[in-house]
Amino acid sequence: MLTRRAVLCAGGAGIVTSLAGCGEATDMTSYEKAVRRLREPLPGHAGLADCVRYATLAASGHNTQPWRFALGVRTVEILPDVARRTPVVDPDDHHLWASLGCAAENFLIAARAVSLHGDVRVDTEDERRLILALERGPAGTDDLFEAVPRRQCTRSDYDGRPVAAADLKSMEEAARVDGVRIVYLLDKPRIATALDHVVAGNTAQMEDPAFVEELKHWLRFNEGSALETRDGLYSASSGNPTLPDWLASMLFPLVFRTSSENDKYARQIRSSSGIAVFVSAKDDREHWVKAGRAYQRFALKATALGIAQAFVNQPVEVAALRSGFAQWLGLEAGERPDLVVRFGHAPPLPMSLRRPVDAVVI
Ligand SMILES: Cc1cc2nc3c(=O)[nH]c(=O)nc-3n(C[C@H](O)[C@H](O)[C@H](O)COP(=O)(O)O)c2cc1C
Repeated sequence: MLTRRAVLCAGGAGIVTSLAGCGEATDMTSYEKAVRRLREPLPGHAGLADCVRYATLAASGHNTQPWRFALGVRTVEILPDVARRTPVVDPDDHHLWASLGCAAENFLIAARAVSLHGDVRVDTEDERRLILALERGPAGTDDLFEAVPRRQCTRSDYDGRPVAAADLKSMEEAARVDGVRIVYLLDKPRIATALDHVVAGNTAQMEDPAFVEELKHWLRFNEGSALETRDGLYSASSGNPTLPDWLASMLFPLVFRTSSENDKYARQIRSSSGIAVFVSAKDDREHWVKAGRAYQRFALKATALGIAQAFVNQPVEVAALRSGFAQWLGLEAGERPDLVVRFGHAPPLPMSLRRPVDAVVI
């Protein structure tokens, strides 16, 4: 296994060189500069550390970034960072493993650009890590690769325009992962019923003080807080105003109410073109990882096509509601609805941050 320092030196040189060349606009805030540096394109002579940086640009529940990377010569392991679990919203660690799947997919897409091809398997011995076995091959990039630094969950109202059938097909094809399928909800009555499930789930979560407390722990109300931890949910990235921490603590209980949150989800879903539900054939860690990989590929393809997307996972997060949702979708016995994603058209919101590579390589 390479040491962490050796890998960072090799990969870091590329980042420093490319930054020196690009120059930074002086009127950018520290937050914007950090985003720009984090989301630099891979340098020409990228190393594994650069692939890790691309991997960390993946989605993760509450932006917890619950991953650690062990870099070897021909294998890379992605391990869960259990200190970053969210036991209230995700008691079975489903989202944690799906998030590792998202990161693994980004890693493989970046690795291909530097002539390393591989696949992901969940360690079947103790099921506590993902193993990416890499082999040399021709360098390859595609529109998914180009989209990695630009993908985001756009948590705003969309403009109501439909997504073309050809684009839906491309997104579904890009997301093809064995053992996972997409159920599209496209007509108004189906979308309206899905909204009922989201509202039921959201109501249950908002009325659970432990859920609200856990969520609050991951909220970052201003640039300073977001920059300090480089994780969590930054207000502006969720389309909300930024506030000093003292004011946010005062206002949060007054404005974060069940009825206003439900109204927000109603607006967001009604203004979306449709909803994609990611369904896996089996309810186990291997398939949770696969669902994450499929989502990541779907979202990258959507980004490449100029289509916005964001999760509305409440119906699959609240365990008591999940089976009713599965039944309404008409799923087969044993299938699990993993992730619920709305999509449509909207301008991007400010991008979110990630922790630096040296904080996640072990
Ligand atoms: C498994 C998983 C579950 C998620 N659940 C939700 C959710 O229910 N609601 C939501 O708004 N975002 C959800 N997210 C999105 C994350 O909050 C988002 O990826 C993170 O804040 C980083 O932002 P970005 O994806 O825009 O880079 C989820 C992401 C993952 C991978």
